[in-house]
Amino acid sequence: VPEPVIFSGIQPTGVPHLGNYLGALLPWVKLQQDASPGTKLFFSIVDLHALTVPQNASQLKKWRAEAFATLLAVGLDPNRSTIFYQSAVPAHAELMWILSTVASMGYLSRMTQWKSKLQLPEDTTLEHSEARAQLRLGLFSYPVLQAADILVHRATHVPVGEDQRQHLEFSRYTANSFNHLFGDLFPIPEALISPAKRVMSLKEPTSKMSKSHADERSRVLLTDSPASIHKKVKVALTDSEPMITYDPIHRPGVSNLIEILSHFEDIPCDIIASEYQNASLRSLKEHVAGRIVHHLHDIRERYQQIMADQIQLEVIAQQGAEAAQANTNRTMNRVRDALGL
Ligand code: ADP
Ligand code: NA
Repeated sequence: VPEPVIFSGIQPTGVPHLGNYLGALLPWVKLQQDASPGTKLFFSIVDLHALTVPQNASQLKKWRAEAFATLLAVGLDPNRSTIFYQSAVPAHAELMWILSTVASMGYLSRMTQWKSKLQLPEDTTLEHSEARAQLRLGLFSYPVLQAADILVHRATHVPVGEDQRQHLEFSRYTANSFNHLFGDLFPIPEALISPAKRVMSLKEPTSKMSKSHADERSRVLLTDSPASIHKKVKVALTDSEPMITYDPIHRPGVSNLIEILSHFEDIPCDIIASEYQNASLRSLKEHVAGRIVHHLHDIRERYQQIMADQIQLEVIAQQGAEAAQANTNRTMNRVRDALGL
């Protein structure tokens, strides 16, 4: 049995929000804490993935550094985990090309994310789409790059959100196809689905908190000031029912606040709801805001320290890239050999 290898990535699309933190970054930190000494951990800022939508170069540069600094600030330790920019390790792109020679076009065209970009019904074929000319190859083949990210490190476990399960299934399928043709080179990676409930938008609590929502008050960023966090939570959309109850279907706004509190206090939502049932919404909101501020305080302080020393950040990124590169070299030597390259 090979030692566990954990790989996961995050796109550099600005400072992460509370949803990214509770759904992805905090689980990564917990994996790092709980990992056996033999477990290898790789966390990547997947900047090549970010290119699948138009980017402004100077903004992307800034977002990359912000994402890297955030990973360090939340508690990922470069002495324990390999933290690196994807684009700094060319084997990710090289393996992507190789995998694309075995990856199934049919499978890729059925992926939900691609279909939603096409904005076509599930049964529409690519050939009949008029929007086809607008679409970019990189968006279509994005899951192949994800597969390469995972397989180039011979990852055995991939912590992902529920929304990424389909992509991981594609990686497993592609790894199997490759192994079948060229020998058992890749472990078949398993998903570690985050148990955390999705954090919902503060302004539209029936959809998830996301960077892509226009209203900035819909999300709390990990670097928001205490005043800004209090303000955003205070104006969070709730309802006008008199009591506080936990009912995600009928009362998504209040229930989202209770869920956030439940994460931070490690108390089940029902118990929080009964503790607060006669309290005012205002006092619940103040309590939630206070807990977020308290929890993010040290993260925000570390983030500012890290961002103030860009040279040191570059040194850490360089060390991460070298360690990641060494690991990918072992994979690529075997892959090239198996292919006759
Ligand atoms: P966004 O939707 O803001 O663009 P991403 O799609 O880049 O976020 O997600 C990065 C990681 O954060 C993924 O693992 C995803 O599952 C997780 N994540 C994103 N939004 C939330 C949320 N609202 N609640 C919980 N986890 C989330
Ligand atoms: Na997204």
